[in-house]
Amino acid sequence: MADSKYMVAVIGGGPAGLYASRKLAEGGARVLILNRDIKPGGLAEYGIYPDKFKMKQGLRNQFRQILALPGIDYFGNVTVCCGGNIVLEDLLESGFQAVLVATGAQGTKWLRLPGENLPGVYHAKNIVYHYNLLPPFGQKKYLIGKRVAIVGAGNVMLDVAHYLVRDLKVDEVIAVVRRGPLEVKFTKKEMELVSKNLDLAALEAEFVRVAPILMAAGQDSNLAKNAFLETIPKGLPPVSDTCFRFEFLASPVRVQGDWMNGVNGLKIEENTLVAADGSVKARGTGNTRQIDADTVIFAIGDTVDKDFCIPTYNDMYLAAPQARFPVSGVSYEAYDPDAQRIVERVFLAGWARQASTGLVGVARRDGENGADAVLHYLGSQPPMRDVENVLEKFESRLEETHQRIVNKSRLAKLEQAEKEQAEKRSLPEFKFPTNDEMFTAMGF
Ligand SMILES: Cc1cc2nc3c(=O)[nH]c(=O)nc-3n(C[C@H](O)[C@H](O)[C@H](O)COP(=O)(O)OP(=O)(O)OC[C@H]3O[C@@H](n4cnc5c(N)ncnc54)[C@H](O)[C@@H]3O)c2cc1C
Ligand SMILES: NC(=O)c1ccc[n+]([C@@H]2O[C@H](COP(=O)([O-])OP(=O)(O)OC[C@H]3O[C@@H](n4cnc5c(N)ncnc54)[C@H](OP(=O)(O)O)[C@@H]3O)[C@@H](O)[C@H]2O)c1
Repeated sequence: MADSKYMVAVIGGGPAGLYASRKLAEGGARVLILNRDIKPGGLAEYGIYPDKFKMKQGLRNQFRQILALPGIDYFGNVTVCCGGNIVLEDLLESGFQAVLVATGAQGTKWLRLPGENLPGVYHAKNIVYHYNLLPPFGQKKYLIGKRVAIVGAGNVMLDVAHYLVRDLKVDEVIAVVRRGPLEVKFTKKEMELVSKNLDLAALEAEFVRVAPILMAAGQDSNLAKNAFLETIPKGLPPVSDTCFRFEFLASPVRVQGDWMNGVNGLKIEENTLVAADGSVKARGTGNTRQIDADTVIFAIGDTVDKDFCIPTYNDMYLAAPQARFPVSGVSYEAYDPDAQRIVERVFLAGWARQASTGLVGVARRDGENGADAVLHYLGSQPPMRDVENVLEKFESRLEETHQRIVNKSRLAKLEQAEKEQAEKRSLPEFKFPTNDEMFTAMGF
């Protein structure tokens, strides 16, 4: 765009990065998106459950429109930091006046429990990437047995349960929830997808077991039970005999098993509920017991990637406590906690700013607000001359150091090839499962 005044790199082509890019372009910036994955969309492409065709197509249409904007360039298959051929400094030294980091939450939250590394223990993100066919996860073998304990009570737990109940059709799925039934974070709508598989006898017994603890915390156990039961009449007709049950007030303390035979159980500590800061917290009672399981999946949220080139504190990238360009009172400027100073010209948005928080709409708003913060900053800087030349030079240098950069025209070829495959196979959609197949389809 000949009249762009500024040049910004956006790292990450998920919802936060894409919606931020549109806002930045509308604000007069020339934008280059660098994305690790070949395809844009992040977790909208590789996290949202595969059979939500309508939602995924709707988002893909919006992302296509954003990428069609002339002020936005897209380079997929380019990892920044994290072992990639390019680091933040390269971008800042190449003329980009600001960098917006929208890389999502790519790190794993380890609880540092004994047995957490045993074969048969997984983290939900990898399983979700696997069934959504993100290379290389789509091709990896995950040995999932017949009795699977999932730790967590968010929508990701239910997505994984959905996969186990409706696709893998395992014998038993046990959701291990550290607080009580009134503190679960998943939505009724998601529960309806698996509610017909609820083991009603086990659910009843579990409510009898926890009722005194709920009562002592001033909670209504019947109200909690009804919230679960209400999801059954609207439940999706079952396709398996999988028994789905809940263990409330239970925190994992050890994964049982050995390296030869893998997992054989999850040792948990029973919890009670205590009021704290206007909410309810779990407190261990010291009583432990074992839940029989041959697979354990942690669905407890993720963290940011520690290999990225900004410092972390408590597994997070920090935003500056004293923002110079706040948006609605929120800081989007990256902060170095060791040096106690702002990382100049570097901004955060989406799940990179707040890991595992909210739906696509929340990531969109955060991306747009992050873009606003960048635009406020750019407004305090002299406009850049010769944006197009500087960008062109950077892009040709990038092409020298990177193989198979996926630009917008390659992306269009891939989309067309996948559309043709879907039509040929009479499928609602088709994805090439490996990078090599995608490269071939794009004519590399
Ligand atoms: C399993 C699951 C299911 C979900 N289902 C729904 C749903 O049904 N409905 C809903 O509204 N929301 C859903 N969400 C939430 C939604 O996906 C997120 O809110 C949203 O995707 C977060 O956007 P983001 O851009 O911050 O991060 P992400 O979507 O994670 O995007 C990050 C992008 O950064 C790129 N990247 C990472 N590291 C680098 C690097 N070093 N260099 C360059 N690029 C990099 C990645 O390739 C990716 O494209 C779901 C989330 C999960 C985990
Ligand atoms: N279909 C959808 O719309 C969909 C699908 C997937 C994800 N999403 C969204 O994506 C976001 C992330 O989802 P999420 O499920 O990963 O996160 P989440 O909603 O925050 O749930 C995380 C769960 O893990 C538990 N947990 C965290 N740390 C734990 C620990 N150390 N030990 C035991 N349990 C622990 C939490 O318990 P506490 O509550 O006690 O902390 C909570 O139950 C959410 O906003 C979600 O709504 C939406």
